[in-house]
Amino acid sequence: MAIRQIVKQGDEVLRKRSFEVTDFGERTHQLLDDMYDTLVKADGAGLAAVQVGVLKRIFIVIDGDSVRDGVIEFINPEIISQSGTQTGVEGCLSVPGMQGDVTRPNKVTVRYQDRNGDWFEIKAEGFIARAICHEYDHLDGTLYIDKAKNVKASDR
Ligand code: NI
Repeated sequence: MAIRQIVKQGDEVLRKRSFEVTDFGERTHQLLDDMYDTLVKADGAGLAAVQVGVLKRIFIVIDGDSVRDGVIEFINPEIISQSGTQTGVEGCLSVPGMQGDVTRPNKVTVRYQDRNGDWFEIKAEGFIARAICHEYDHLDGTLYIDKAKNVKASDR
């Protein structure tokens, strides 16, 4: 297990587009395991590979109320449909100490690969849909602060 350093806003890597994953071997598994350990330590809701400085189309999102409930691993994800809207407070481990209100789809359907390269489809709504959209944006160099209103110091 290894905790990786989280890249902070201002680092150019966060603005780059991440690359498709073609390796489903040990190196990618190690990255995913390290991302999980890093997310547990930070007690966050999701983490994209670019946030630990790796430009690969990978993110993890909590599968429950907290990271200790486990995570879903998304590799090469595509949001294939979305519906509705929701507006709520977001923060980001790469933008520490801040929060803002972001409007997102209320429901999304996502196609993605798991760590072995098998394809899955998931329908998510509410908080998990929000978290997926937030992390998905990271893969294209977008931060929530680009979309947020009322960005201010976090209550947390
Ligand atoms: Ni983020």
